[in-house]
Amino acid sequence: MDWRHESKADRIIVALDCSADEAIVLGEKLAGHARWVKIGMTLYYAVGPSIVKTMHKLGFRVFLDLKLHDIPHQVYGASMSIAHAGADLFTVHASGGEPMLTSAVRGARKGAADVDLDAEAPAVCAITVLTSMDEQQLEEIGVNDSPAQQVHRLASLASASGLDGIVCSPMEAAQMRELLGDEAIIITPGVRPHGASLGDQSRVATPKDAFDAGASHLVVGRPITRSNDPVQALEEIVASL
Ligand code: C5P
Repeated sequence: MDWRHESKADRIIVALDCSADEAIVLGEKLAGHARWVKIGMTLYYAVGPSIVKTMHKLGFRVFLDLKLHDIPHQVYGASMSIAHAGADLFTVHASGGEPMLTSAVRGARKGAADVDLDAEAPAVCAITVLTSMDEQQLEEIGVNDSPAQQVHRLASLASASGLDGIVCSPMEAAQMRELLGDEAIIITPGVRPHGASLGDQSRVATPKDAFDAGASHLVVGRPITRSNDPVQALEEIVASL
């Protein structure tokens, strides 16, 4: 996916962390304004692939944040199914290892070709270290490096395995851009416009700072979805860039 000629406004991804009914209402409001939505596992496991098609019909590109992690055969099949559903981008855990990561890429390509021989395969992005994990939790699962070292190792593995990019905190975006190069997709959540409520996010950056640090795409959820006027909230973010 070559994102480099797309406007920053078209690279804001609205996280729809809500029920299917609410997601559809929000989708209808944001249609024609936002280019991307993110669907996470809560919503996807509740309603299945139909939500991808519903969002496509409303004109969105769909980031399916399912964070796959299983043996290569399963991940191949799941990636194929995700491509059949029509997702444009999805996530896998880099800690699943190289055979699992390459299986995700192959599954995505096969699934896209099943639907349409000329179709572009969904982009595959890696989750490195969950931001909910600290140094002590990493040690508990046998990782004795710092979170930053582990992020660096897993991002390198994802890149060497042919993935299109990674998801990381805005604080890591500059370092990841240097490591992964100009074309990589670097998606940063933890984005808050000036004055917005932090919710449960602690290490946040403004939308402008996240793009300036090297993010290709931003994920913004509650500052848009919990606003009384989601379209205006999105437009204010775009104006701030
Ligand atoms: O509402 P908010 O803007 O905090 O939503 C951020 C979205 O990004 C949520 O869907 C959340 O699960 C996701 N995310 C995150 N931090 C990560 C990875 C994903 O906030 N490290």
